Amino acid sequence: MDGIQFIRTADGSNTLFHAGAGEYYHSMHGAVQESRHVFIESGLKYRQQQTGSALVSVLEIGFGTGLNFLLSAEYCQDNQILLQYSGIEPFPLSWEQIVKSGYQHYVSREIWDLFCKNYEDAIQKKVSVSPYIGWEIIHRKALDFETNAKFDVIYFDAFSEKSQPEMWTIQTLDHICRHLAENGVLVTYAVNGNLKRNLQSLGIRWEKIPGASGKREMLRATKSS
Ligand SMILES: C[S@@+](CC[C@H](N)C(=O)[O-])C[C@H]1O[C@@H](n2cnc3c(N)ncnc32)[C@H](O)[C@@H]1O
Repeated sequence: MDGIQFIRTADGSNTLFHAGAGEYYHSMHGAVQESRHVFIESGLKYRQQQTGSALVSVLEIGFGTGLNFLLSAEYCQDNQILLQYSGIEPFPLSWEQIVKSGYQHYVSREIWDLFCKNYEDAIQKKVSVSPYIGWEIIHRKALDFETNAKFDVIYFDAFSEKSQPEMWTIQTLDHICRHLAENGVLVTYAVNGNLKRNLQSLGIRWEKIPGASGKREMLRATKSS
């Protein structure tokens, strides 16, 4: 992805435009506000408050710029929660590209430095970036990802159904949700008919909740037997 350009969104934070998908990586109403609302508040914090556990594992589908990881790491460090974070990304951005995001302005110096220092290593293997944070970027497609691990929270941050329909099929959702722990939650910025129907067919309970600024609603799904 040469000549990659970050573009300013409404809350002053940057996002990327993906020419192939014809889509931005985040909401133009605000990249950071969307990430905080959809993934941190409605996913990570929600789940953590339910369990009260001092340990949480997160699987992200579509790691991209790492914004969701940065905000998750900050939240966990601040609240003394151990975070195990696995981000799936078949097309990792280079460090030279990521560093232009400007996301250092939204997290502490310590978290940004850990991100900088470990980004290239995290693509190769699981790394402990601090006593609180373990991190890996799995360099493959979601459907090729296999593990016996179950995750407390899944951030489903794929491109939209319009530009990447294969990410929203029952086959893909089934594969992803198999990695969800009992009572684990999956959150995503979108609510579309196929997503609702497919989750229903998989026996996964979902709810519509208020969306990030500029979007009426988003979806949170919970796996329970
Ligand atoms: C909407 S962007 C994600 C934004 C990202 N979470 C961030 O904060 O920068 C979608 C991401 O999904 C990735 N992607 C594309 N195909 C994928 C696949 N088959 N499995 C997992 N991720 C995929 C893209 O490369 C892109 O980084």
